[in-house]
Amino acid sequence: MSWSVQETSARTTLLVAIICPPDSSRSHSIPSHPSYIKQPPSAHQTPIMRSRTAIYVLTLICLTTALSSTLSGTFDADQGNLQLPIKAAALDPSCAPGGNFDLSYWELQLPVGKPDVISSARLQECWGYQNASYFFTDQSDGTMVMIVPAKSDGCVTTPDSEHCRTELREVDPSSGELISWDPNSSPNRLNVTLSVTTPDDSLHGTVIGQIHIDGIKPVCELYYNSTGHINMGVERSEEGGQTHTPIGFVEVGTMFSYQIKYEGGNLSVNYNGGEPQVLNTNDLDAPPSYFKVGNYNQGNSSSDVHFYSVVVTH
Ligand SMILES: *[C@@H]1O[C@H](CO)[C@@H](O)[C@H](O)[C@H]1NC(C)=O
Ligand SMILES: *[C@@H]1O[C@H](CO)[C@@H](O)[C@H](O)[C@H]1NC(C)=O
Ligand SMILES: *[C@@H]1O[C@H](CO)[C@@H](O)[C@H](O)[C@H]1NC(C)=O
Ligand SMILES: *[C@@H]1O[C@H](CO)[C@@H](O)[C@H](O)[C@H]1NC(C)=O
Ligand SMILES: *[C@@H]1O[C@H](CO)[C@@H](O)[C@H](O)[C@H]1NC(C)=O
Repeated sequence: MSWSVQETSARTTLLVAIICPPDSSRSHSIPSHPSYIKQPPSAHQTPIMRSRTAIYVLTLICLTTALSSTLSGTFDADQGNLQLPIKAAALDPSCAPGGNFDLSYWELQLPVGKPDVISSARLQECWGYQNASYFFTDQSDGTMVMIVPAKSDGCVTTPDSEHCRTELREVDPSSGELISWDPNSSPNRLNVTLSVTTPDDSLHGTVIGQIHIDGIKPVCELYYNSTGHINMGVERSEEGGQTHTPIGFVEVGTMFSYQIKYEGGNLSVNYNGGEPQVLNTNDLDAPPSYFKVGNYNQGNSSSDVHFYSVVVTH
C-alpha cells in the first residue's frame, strides 16, 4: 500500500487532508510492508524512530478511515463550507432522553399547560420524564425529539412570547436552579448535533439554539428555515430588534452540528466545525446570559427537531 492511492477521487483527497494532519499526509510515505505495526516499539528505538513509527501508524489509520465507506463528506462550493459527516455517540432508544443526554444542565419548557416546566431533577436518568407528543426518545435511533404542534392544533406560549416552544433552558447543574453567566468570562460554549426534520413555515424558521439575556430579550437566536437556511439573529439592544446574518445551508432532515460561543465578550457561531463567524452585539454590553436549545417555533405550522448531542461548556 502506498500513499498515492490509485482511484483517488477529489473527495477522498479532501477527506484525507481534513482528517490527517497536513505534515503526515504530505511528507511521509507509507512503507510497502506494514508489518512494523505488529512489532511493539523496541527499547532500542531512539525518540526520532518512535515518533516516525507514530507518524506511520497515524497515517495508516488516517488512510483507512478516509477510505472507509462510512465516511462521505461533500464540499459545498456554493456555500464555501465543508459539510463533514458527523459521528453521533451511541444513544439507547429504550431510555428517556435523560438516559442519553446530560440533562442536569437543563429544565424543559413545554408548549402545553400553564405552560408546563419540567425540572432538571425530573428529566434526568433513563427513567426520566418524557411525553409522546412533545419530548421523547426516537425508538429507531435514540435521538431526543422535540415537537411543537401547529398553532391550529393549540399550543401555549410563555408570557413574553407569541410563539410556542419545546425547549431546554439552562440551569445550575448542581442545584437545578435557574442560572446566568458573565459573557466576559470564558469558556461559555454550546455544542449541538441535530437534524431538523420539520422546520416551521416562518421566514427565518425554527429557533434551534439561543443565548438569552437574564431578562426579557435574547442575545441571539439561531434559526433554521423550511428551505434549510441557517440564520443568526442578534439583538441590537436590550430593548430588542434583531440583525440577521446568514450562517449556512443544510438540507432539511440532514444531521449537522453547531457551536455558539459568548466568551471574552465576543459572540460567535459556526456549523459543521467550520470557521467561527464573529457577530456584532452592537449595544449589548455582555449582559448576564444563559443558553437555550430545542424547538422554538416561529410560524404557524408544526416543527420537529431531533438531537444527537447537546454539550455545554463553562
Ligand atoms: C403529554 O403532556 C400533556 C400535557 O401535560 C398531557 O395532556 C398528555 O397526556 C401527555 N401525553 C403523554 C403521552 O404523556
Ligand atoms: C401565521 O398566521 C397569522 C394569522 O393568520 C398570520 O398573520 C401570519 O402571517 C402567519 N405566519 C406565517 C409564517 O405564515
Ligand atoms: C429561508 O431563508 C432563505 C435565506 O434567508 C430565504 O431565501 C428563503 O426564502 C427562506 N425560506 C422561506 C420558506 O421563507
Ligand atoms: C474579542 O474580539 C476582539 C476583536 O476582534 C479581539 O481583539 C479579542 O482578542 C477577542 N477576545 C477574545 C477573548 O477572544
Ligand atoms: C464543539 O465545537 C467545536 C467547534 O466546531 C469543536 O472544536 C469542539 O470539539 C466541539 N466540542 C464538543 C464537546 O463537541
